[in-house]
Amino acid sequence: MIPNQWYAVIRGQDVKRDKPVGIMRLGKKLVLYRDTEGQVACLQDRCAHKGVLLSKGKQHGDAIACPYHGFQYDQQGKCVHMPVLGKCGVIPRTMQVPSYKVHEQHGLVWLWNGEPQDSYPEVPMFTNFSEYKGFTSLYGWDAPIHYTRYVESVCEVYHVPFVHKGSFLNIWDPKGGRVDEFRCSIDGHLITSDFILRPDDDRSAQETLEAKFPWQRGWRIGVDVLMPNLVQIRNDVFDVYLVATPIDDENTWVCFCYQEPKKDLLFPFFKPLPIPLWRRLRPWMMCRMERFIQQAKDLEAIEGQWPRASSLKANNLIPVDKVNAYYLRLRDKLIRDAAENRPAPAAPTIPIQLVPQAADSPLETNSL
Ligand code: FES
Ligand SMILES: [Fe+2]
Repeated sequence: MIPNQWYAVIRGQDVKRDKPVGIMRLGKKLVLYRDTEGQVACLQDRCAHKGVLLSKGKQHGDAIACPYHGFQYDQQGKCVHMPVLGKCGVIPRTMQVPSYKVHEQHGLVWLWNGEPQDSYPEVPMFTNFSEYKGFTSLYGWDAPIHYTRYVESVCEVYHVPFVHKGSFLNIWDPKGGRVDEFRCSIDGHLITSDFILRPDDDRSAQETLEAKFPWQRGWRIGVDVLMPNLVQIRNDVFDVYLVATPIDDENTWVCFCYQEPKKDLLFPFFKPLPIPLWRRLRPWMMCRMERFIQQAKDLEAIEGQWPRASSLKANNLIPVDKVNAYYLRLRDKLIRDAAENRPAPAAPTIPIQLVPQAADSPLETNSL
């Protein structure tokens, strides 16, 4: 896990007024709730008195009350009321719960994994999504694999012809998993790649892109990683991003965000539905398909993968795994920098296009 970064920990819509929610993220038990202004507060989910889960308690105005003896804590984790002492009781200074800096943006609640700072960087987000005006759907769930393995699996799609072959409505159901015209570059915290996934036949890459039927076709796909844990997949049908936030050393909270498909290739038979409903329904359905169809297939293949956590040493990477290699190297570097108190590299500035113009930068010569 990389220190001094924003991590998405829960969808904003899952943190409600008067209903504290307990989650495990980044190896920490957390309780989140909305104060009377609607701002999200985040405390350690453990009462400073006798260790009871605060998420089982009730909200009292801006404070959250422990269900055991009713001690109340404000948004900063300071105990503000101990019923057993009465109104005039003196509250010990040690009656304090750790609080965490959180920020709500892009439909997600982000937690700062690091020391408090005078000013904080922007939360990471792909411009394809931060500037998008159409409908999106966000859907999160827990996956029983290490987050580095999750990131790794979505950073390369040449497993699709093997793992997802025959999946329900899989437009990629392809004849082969050959990768052509692979390009990859790195800029600050952003790794960008672009390639054609195509059948291994005698046609040119261009001919496969122009094939008449989806199942004969090659696909131009972009895969990007934005540190610390966001991955975007782009093609001419849809854009999607996901965050893979560690729950603990064994599990990952995955949250997918789909845009409306750019083409009606996937579900033409739903077209008679009223337009606004149809536009909302498609990203909603894509998210559920990702969890219950695509990810189920991924897990069948990669559950049991070892070592549990990925690293450069844990794999024998090939040139088309360059996104994996860059991610693992950049991750190592950011962890080292944080340990040595070095400033993070500049935030990415290049907008992402379907076909990036950046030249290929060979792995061997790229210095992280
Ligand atoms: S354990 Fe929370 S108030 Fe006693
Ligand atoms: Fe997959």
